Amino acid sequence: MSPRPVVVVTRRLPEPVHQALARAFDARLNPDDRPLSADGLREAVGSADALLTTVTDKVTAEVLAAEPRRAGLVANFGVGFNNIDVEAAKARGIAVSNTPDVLTDATADLAMTLLLMVARRTGEGERHLRGGQWTGWRPTHMLGTHVTGKTLGLVGMGRIARAVAQRAHHGFGMRIIYHDPFPPPPDVARGLGAEQRQTLDEVLREADFVSLHCPATPETRHLLNRDRLALMRPEAFLINTARGDVVDEAALVETLASKRIAGAGLDVFEREPQVTQALTAMDNVVLLPHLGSATTETRVAMGMRAFENLQLFFSGKPLRDRVA
Ligand code: 8YV
Repeated sequence: MSPRPVVVVTRRLPEPVHQALARAFDARLNPDDRPLSADGLREAVGSADALLTTVTDKVTAEVLAAEPRRAGLVANFGVGFNNIDVEAAKARGIAVSNTPDVLTDATADLAMTLLLMVARRTGEGERHLRGGQWTGWRPTHMLGTHVTGKTLGLVGMGRIARAVAQRAHHGFGMRIIYHDPFPPPPDVARGLGAEQRQTLDEVLREADFVSLHCPATPETRHLLNRDRLALMRPEAFLINTARGDVVDEAALVETLASKRIAGAGLDVFEREPQVTQALTAMDNVVLLPHLGSATTETRVAMGMRAFENLQLFFSGKPLRDRVA
């Protein structure tokens, strides 16, 4: 029997995924869940046939430059893959895959969670109650912003944005506007009640809630910079479940501090796990620790999707989710 492919799995994954990986491969699991250093990742590129990585692994050109190289695939656990230098991978003939589709609903649910939380001040309300400050009901206590019927501006109109539009339009009666350089077919947008805007700036000027759904690329880095944030309405909220780098976090802090927008709901940050300290002191900001896809069902499905890509790779078949 030929030896089974060696797969380095960089983080602890849900148990059913561990089982599938261990059955099919010589899987080097990480039950203690200690992130690998750059040296550890480079060592894996030199000694394993494939790596199963996550957002916390910086798979840089330097990591991929390991000599001699053994790895032929980096199967990323996540739809985003900005943690991987895909150009360097391509140059070295290393394939890269991601896990789309399976996390669309969970992430859209979390974008709606943030939108509702920040509009209805639920984080603040919880802190108030748990802090023993609640003195009783009163008509003017902690009034938030109405959500139903408001305008939601989507930046990007891919899978997750469409799932958000579905919930917001059909569930909450919201008006949907969007901008995407690669817009969906008109009938898809029509089904979501979504109106296209030719520019991002139009979306920012018009929306009551702006939700980010574009990938993190060199082009989208700091897409929401100081000037663009200044286009938003003073009553508007920013929701980010995409990637921290899409927003200039320092500019966002300034914009919030000077009350030029009403608040923000953030699941992702520019320098995770660091969060700009000033944000943690703001009551009109909801902060979550990158939980977009964090349901048991979704994390198992993501792992099984990465597993499927590994299996296809080792049987010499085209990958289902090849991104490089
Ligand atoms: C993951 C994500 O939790 O899929 C993505 O792009 O941001 C999250 O769903 C993370 O990337 C895991 O690696």
